[in-house]
Amino acid sequence: MNAKSVTPEIKQSIAELREQINDHNYRYYVLDAPDIPDVEYDRLMNELKRLEAEHPALIVPDSPTQRVGAAPLSAFSTVKHEMPMLSLDNAFSDEEIADFNRRLSERLKSTEDIEFACEPKLDGIAISLLYEDGVFVRGATRGDGETGEDISQNVRTIPSVPLRLRGKGFPATLEVRGEVYMPKASFNSLNEYARKHDQKTFMNPRNAAAGSLRQLDSRITANRRLEFCAYGVGLVREGNLPDRHSEILRRLQQWGVRISDKLAVVKNLAGCLEYYKDLEQVRADLEYDIDGIVYKVNRIDLQRQLGFVSRAPRWAIARKFPAQEEMTRLINVEFQVGRTGAVTPVARLEPVFVGGVTVSNATLHNQDEINRLGVQIGDTVIVRRAGDVIPQIVSVVMSKRPAETIQIVFPSDCPVCGSPVEAMPGEAVARCTGGLVCEAQRKEAIRHFASRRAMDIDGLGDKLVEQLVDQSLVHSVADIYRLDAETLAGLERMGKKSAEKLVKAIESSKSTTLPRFLYALGIREVGETTARNLAAEFGNLDDLMKADQGRLQQVKDIGPVVAHFVEEFFQQSETREGIRSLQNAGVHWDEFTPGENTAGEGDQPLAGLTYVITGTLESMSRDDAKEKLQQLGATVAGSVSKKTHAVVAGPGAGSKLARAEQLGITILNEKDFLALLEKPESAQ
Ligand code: IVH
Repeated sequence: MNAKSVTPEIKQSIAELREQINDHNYRYYVLDAPDIPDVEYDRLMNELKRLEAEHPALIVPDSPTQRVGAAPLSAFSTVKHEMPMLSLDNAFSDEEIADFNRRLSERLKSTEDIEFACEPKLDGIAISLLYEDGVFVRGATRGDGETGEDISQNVRTIPSVPLRLRGKGFPATLEVRGEVYMPKASFNSLNEYARKHDQKTFMNPRNAAAGSLRQLDSRITANRRLEFCAYGVGLVREGNLPDRHSEILRRLQQWGVRISDKLAVVKNLAGCLEYYKDLEQVRADLEYDIDGIVYKVNRIDLQRQLGFVSRAPRWAIARKFPAQEEMTRLINVEFQVGRTGAVTPVARLEPVFVGGVTVSNATLHNQDEINRLGVQIGDTVIVRRAGDVIPQIVSVVMSKRPAETIQIVFPSDCPVCGSPVEAMPGEAVARCTGGLVCEAQRKEAIRHFASRRAMDIDGLGDKLVEQLVDQSLVHSVADIYRLDAETLAGLERMGKKSAEKLVKAIESSKSTTLPRFLYALGIREVGETTARNLAAEFGNLDDLMKADQGRLQQVKDIGPVVAHFVEEFFQQSETREGIRSLQNAGVHWDEFTPGENTAGEGDQPLAGLTYVITGTLESMSRDDAKEKLQQLGATVAGSVSKKTHAVVAGPGAGSKLARAEQLGITILNEKDFLALLEKPESAQ
């Protein structure tokens, strides 16, 4: 493009656009409170890019457009840290923190309580950002603490690193120190993409962040969703900073640097211990990995007095959480068959304490994953359990491979029913082709049929289904309706009372709704929403059973894949017979009128309203709270936006609550929430 002539108006427009974009970045990354939709932000950015392309002479390194990465480097140059980047001593128990506090008092020769700043210990990569007169001039890794690498080009691509500080009053030279990390969701999608494209996956978010920062081609870094969070300052020249660590961080925040929203100041040791408990509770819900807490003496004058010992400050300590990764041995691999026949390899492990629980099983996903890991039975493996995520095997410790390992062989026949196991072309999952002939699939189908959100047969749990199928008392779901109290009472862990109760529950499940019934049938890819859409479209089962794929695709949110599964399902003679048996047994529903709720509990007073749940609730789990809201028709979202109707916040609520407050969104405590469940009509 030919450069056009630069007029004062163009200069002005460019300056205004940059300022607007920087403001939005600040609101988004630092305050966590965006006030414009993404499309509007994109529009501003595109406009700026267009003007800069027309007038390349006006491009400056700190323009918000300059985050896309630059030409690849052949190597990173080295950077000498004028002030060394130190590390921290670790503590693993309350006692060790008490010892730390005692040592401080002794050194300070004071009996007064010591005030601490508490921050999460982010599990990422330490970096240093250098600002000269407020302009970002260099980003460097920690390296060995004395010398690091110049990764400025890569750091520039991280959206939460300000390329220019906001406001005024910052020192002429200011070195900001903090952690670059990859949020868990970004890590998962990066690995998912890698798995799909047969590329190398990363072990954990920290490795992914390190790998992304180490790219010589910063355009790759620009495509990885990295974030930055500051935890301190290094070199400061010509300028003053507040006299407390927490205040320095807040000052950084005012200058546009992101700091932790979990930063807290506590009065003494007791406060530190409480902070640990609180953060441990919410650890799994955080959007990023943390491996502990850092306690820092808050007063800078006391920090100076305390000084350093070898490579670590005396005034700070890291209290580590139980590790989320551990080494253990793979003892065996078993193959489990799910409701849809998917055959999943499950690793049996030597029990190991990781992420706060003892883990003895982990998923291996599928054959591709086994190949990718190159794992064999007998290997030493690294197991990762982050929060409530299913434990995963992340890698094999090849150096510990014993002389004799056993190859993992994926079965060609179903381990339960012996039917062939097949993988559809292009699908990583292998499935047992036995359908309901397969006992494992039958058990899962029966469990699903009886589950709360399906036919809701209270008391028909996993263990019972297991016995009923094993003893050939139940072959198909219709057989459930032939069970009597006497038979049930003869089963393990069943008494006369519970048998009678179960018979009653079976009886009352006969009266259901069409969406629930469709969901209960367990058609592949038909969850509750699809079941509801199908019911709303056809109104009755007969018309649905007659529909071909073309007709099915006219239903809301149903594409060719689901249409195929639905058609195929209803064409099978076993399906038709099964449905007839159920109806003969007395299962019935009224014709469906749209707007009816799956649970059949009348209307949906919260329809159209979006809720967000954050923190911990005492009376129920978050999942249960979510389910209850959904039953009333509400949508439950993971993040707060202007569209959020209200936020349900329990203790431990963090950034979501803060964001809701900033956006002026209604906040419900647990009592309000329970009242809402009682009287949902009052919500609108
Ligand atoms: S303060 C002199 N605060 O932990 C004190 N470090 O084990 C220097 N880290 O290299 C560090 N979160 O990469 C500090 N809130 C936090 C931190 C933090 C993560 C990392 C940092 C450092 C390592 C020390």
